[in-house]
Amino acid sequence: MPNFPSTTIRRLSPATPLAAASVRTLLLAVLLPAVASAADPEEIGNQVAGRLFTSLMTTLQEKIASVGPEAAIAYCRLEALPLTAQVGQEFPQVKSVHRTALRVRNPNNQPDATDRSVLEAWLATWNPAEPPKLVIKELTTDHGTKAIRYYRPVPVMATCLVCHGSGNEIAPNVRAAIARDYPQDQAVDFQEGDLRGAIVVTFDAE
Ligand code: HEC
Repeated sequence: MPNFPSTTIRRLSPATPLAAASVRTLLLAVLLPAVASAADPEEIGNQVAGRLFTSLMTTLQEKIASVGPEAAIAYCRLEALPLTAQVGQEFPQVKSVHRTALRVRNPNNQPDATDRSVLEAWLATWNPAEPPKLVIKELTTDHGTKAIRYYRPVPVMATCLVCHGSGNEIAPNVRAAIARDYPQDQAVDFQEGDLRGAIVVTFDAE
């Protein structure tokens, strides 16, 4: 199991009754700008990462069905999702959102030391039936400021294989387009259920 540094995390109660949960969500939605601070990285991280993940999945599925996987390649970039821009406005305490992996397609998504330690710990004990929910890490940035990062694992699903799978799963035209746009691609030969990478939400801790 990954380590959760206990000082910075407020644990959520394991089973929140549905009614209480929706009241809480409603309150959060109304009060968020006033009450949210870097002290709630777990709650805000869950919202931000959850929405980006759903949006990525839906967008990819729609685009693969409408324009085909080759043209859908452009939509696996986080920046391509309209939600990414909204997140900055809606959650002012979120400094950035990025994706990373041990094997990346875009070299800009290369993990830094903290990213790598989280991904390697997940991979070492990875069980697709019980993926870890999240990890929270505190770190000092290159500029010497403190930051908090929320990590959520991204598993490989069947939809992903047309661009991240192996052999015939990736059509020749798709393979060629990936090779053209990402000559250093390492993000192939995954199987359904594998750990693909992480969505990372960074907060200022000061
Ligand atoms: C249509 C092709 C396509 C499909 C389908 C696809 N991806 Fe990607 N994926 C890409 C491309 C292209 C990139 C590089 C994006 C960029 O430039 O940031 C990428 C990058 C990523 C990254 C960022 C790390 C890296 O390797 O650069 C993750 C994580 C990821 N994909 C996960 C998934 C998951 C999970 C699915 C299935 C739900 C999926 N992808 C489906 C094409 C695809």
